[in-house]
Amino acid sequence: MKTMIYAHRGASKLAPENTMPAYQIASESGADGLEIDVQLTKDSIPVLIHDENVRRTTNGTGFVQDYTYDEIKQLDAGSWFSSKFSDCSIITLDYFLRWFKDLPLLLNVELKTNVIEYKRIERIVYDSLKHYQLLDRTVISSFNITSIKKMKIINPSVSTAFLTSTKRRHLPGYAHSHGASSLHIKYRMLDKKIVKQCHKNHMPLRIYTVNRPSWMEKCFKMGCDAIFTDVPHEAVEYRELY
Ligand code: G3P
Repeated sequence: MKTMIYAHRGASKLAPENTMPAYQIASESGADGLEIDVQLTKDSIPVLIHDENVRRTTNGTGFVQDYTYDEIKQLDAGSWFSSKFSDCSIITLDYFLRWFKDLPLLLNVELKTNVIEYKRIERIVYDSLKHYQLLDRTVISSFNITSIKKMKIINPSVSTAFLTSTKRRHLPGYAHSHGASSLHIKYRMLDKKIVKQCHKNHMPLRIYTVNRPSWMEKCFKMGCDAIFTDVPHEAVEYRELY
């Protein structure tokens, strides 16, 4: 079984995360899929950004939820990474999906609902994916198990993943009982037991964030279903060796 490679926040080692250049580079890297982070602006527009606060990845300050889309799109989302990306702005989910829909790639949408409870984010994201007919190649993930449950209520056949960095007993069973179809775990949690438990329960297991060749090797050899990496081009080359 081939381990799938998802570009984590795009090719985020080479361009600013969650921006179009990062996704354009990733789409040409040979990766199987792209991973995006979604939050809502004050006027409930889904936008791509990882942190709840814009400080780290833009020239602004304050929380995503306190900006309207017209305000947040004015921010420079690229200069923090390199001056050559100074024209990058925060993009909407709709803009991204319109670009993505014709590419032969998988998608992972992470709902950033672990810190802030964005009203109706599950329904808003679901409707966008449905509109672009992307539900059959998208997995929707969250650290917040309630978001997973809400997604399953919207549509029980949607592919979901529980994201976690915390070990617990019978994790695959816990995730499954809350509506998750798959499990996304931090690399340090990876061991033979969890691979076996997941596969016994027919639950795909995907690992984040796998940037070192030795980590990639372990994931490939252990039969993990996918990895998330900031260096998709390197992972694709490395996978050729296995
Ligand atoms: O989905 C995998 C990975 O993106 C989860 O961690 O911190 O990047 O949201 P984080």
